[in-house]
Amino acid sequence: MPGTSLDSLLSRFHPDTGAIDGAPTVTRRLSDLGGCFADPSAWTAVLSKGDPIVYTVTAMEPAGDEGDLHYGLGRIMPGCVGAEYFMTKGHFHAWRPAGEFYFGLEGEGLMLLEDGATGESRIVPLRPHHAVYVPGNTAHRTINTGSVPLAYLGVYPARAGHDYAAIATRNFRCVVIEQNGAPTMVQRKDLP
Ligand code: F6R
Ligand code: MN
Repeated sequence: MPGTSLDSLLSRFHPDTGAIDGAPTVTRRLSDLGGCFADPSAWTAVLSKGDPIVYTVTAMEPAGDEGDLHYGLGRIMPGCVGAEYFMTKGHFHAWRPAGEFYFGLEGEGLMLLEDGATGESRIVPLRPHHAVYVPGNTAHRTINTGSVPLAYLGVYPARAGHDYAAIATRNFRCVVIEQNGAPTMVQRKDLP
């Protein structure tokens, strides 16, 4: 740390815009999320009216050593594709042992967690003043179940990386849909 500049120790994030000063933002539109939603015809129907932003993620990833940490600011818009809420692609960490902490900042949502060894699925609420722990070897997807943007921070080991392919090829075993006005987790294989 001797000689380290304040800039590399302090960063400013903005939950209301999804920005982190000095860090790049990735924007995911609905067209980028082909194959994520359970109902392809609902996905096509929403797309035929436009290509909304589903979420942005801004990552503060200073070059670092193995023991370093990175963080990301995610912001998911409210919305649905059929009965399924707007959500992230979801991923395993490329370095499977890497865990992650998510901190809710604004809005109301869920994390869908799927154990890479057993396939067990859990939903955990993500909301302000709550922290969700994502253990290693766990696929994780973030879901906005509310009517305003869901903003959150994720803090993860610098060497975690992303493995999207492992989950994209078969998708999560469970789907979170609105049923009787409430978010409900159902097995994908049980969907009509
Ligand atoms: C990093 C992490 C988050 C996500 C963000 C977007 O390990 O979990 O910063 O990257 O929530 O989700 P994905 O990456 O699945 O598009
Ligand atoms: Mn992650």
